[in-house]
Amino acid sequence: MTTDLGVEATPLALLLLGRESDPASERGTACPGTLPPASEPSLVERARAAKDALGDKVFVLGHHYQRDEVIQFADVTGDSFKLAREAAARPGAEYIVFCGVHFMAESADILTGAHQQVVLPDLAAGCSMADMASAEQVAEAWDVLTDLGLAGDTVPVSYMNSSAAIKASTGRHGGTICTSSNAEVALRWALDSRGRAGRRVLFLPDQHLGRNTAVRSLGLGLDDCVVYDPRKPLGGLSATQLRDATMVLWKGHCSVHGRFSLDCVHDVRRRLPDVRVLVHPECRHEVVSAADLVGSTEFIIRTIEAAPAGSTWAIGTELNLVSRLAKAHPDKAIVFLDKTVCFCSTMNRIDLPHLVWSLESLVEGRVVNRIEVDPATAADARKALDQMLALPAN
Ligand code: 13P
Ligand code: SF4
Repeated sequence: MTTDLGVEATPLALLLLGRESDPASERGTACPGTLPPASEPSLVERARAAKDALGDKVFVLGHHYQRDEVIQFADVTGDSFKLAREAAARPGAEYIVFCGVHFMAESADILTGAHQQVVLPDLAAGCSMADMASAEQVAEAWDVLTDLGLAGDTVPVSYMNSSAAIKASTGRHGGTICTSSNAEVALRWALDSRGRAGRRVLFLPDQHLGRNTAVRSLGLGLDDCVVYDPRKPLGGLSATQLRDATMVLWKGHCSVHGRFSLDCVHDVRRRLPDVRVLVHPECRHEVVSAADLVGSTEFIIRTIEAAPAGSTWAIGTELNLVSRLAKAHPDKAIVFLDKTVCFCSTMNRIDLPHLVWSLESLVEGRVVNRIEVDPATAADARKALDQMLALPAN
């Protein structure tokens, strides 16, 4: 479709929340039923009562980027790796309510049994990074590698932040999923040539996590990495560039972590001379290079917990988590790395009214917002997720 301005309309144009659905992407869809208003004073009590009524039938998972009002009802909190493990380890729970984003709930559905149902309280909780790679684009990229005779020694490594269809294609091509907690071991596994063909990795969809891990943890050079733009023929690269690359990085990024800049790091160091800068590996390479420590959300939490009283930290990750850490550690000075407020808007879609609505619906015997991956996709995706779960610990 072409717009009045003659611009090709993107198939991922923003949908008005609650108006239309786009099941082919990570983007949000309608939210049917009666949602309690956010100002309703009894929401906390209602969430507690619904959870008590459901007892062991329900297990609530909460990602660290969730709001305080939601995270208080999580049975377990964690980063995406820990939550995937926790979902797989709860065969007794009939319902898994996932307070996180769509790709996390899909992974939970793949890793749980057929008797279990996964609920995402608001279907609008997608992930803009995951939307930067569609299954069709990834299939085309694989065709490009095949036509150049490169697919045989390329191993796909897909970040957890991707759709089930992409995880399935990763499984079909003998690759693995990774998270920010285990990207290093995943890359080592993929590039280990003993008995495997891995000479090159197709890493998607987050170019920054791929580059940061390859360069910082594996000691590769920046020139071992090329960026593959799915909108351009051959990804915007020459056949030689693709052949010579060790890391073919998908042109995707996180809009939240992408906000942190080198200026933010310089600025905070000027303002707080003793500050230690701690960032998530989804930040840009220059930010990660200028930081003192880099790691997943679990790593960030562990680092702050172990830090001495009186220490000063600037943290470059989602604001809900940074604010919670600052509140939990009043003996340490904790600031947000950016001067501008920056929440992950899709993580924030899960609020107390949606949680209450989904829990009360379950009490009434109605499963709302079920996330269900079709069996064929789930079987292939499971191969790649199981490969991740089988990787040695960091
Ligand atoms: P973690 O793997 O650290 O949980 O990060 C997930 C995510 O979405 C970060 O943006
Ligand atoms: Fe996606 Fe970034 Fe939000 Fe994580 S923080 S869910 S990568 S948009």
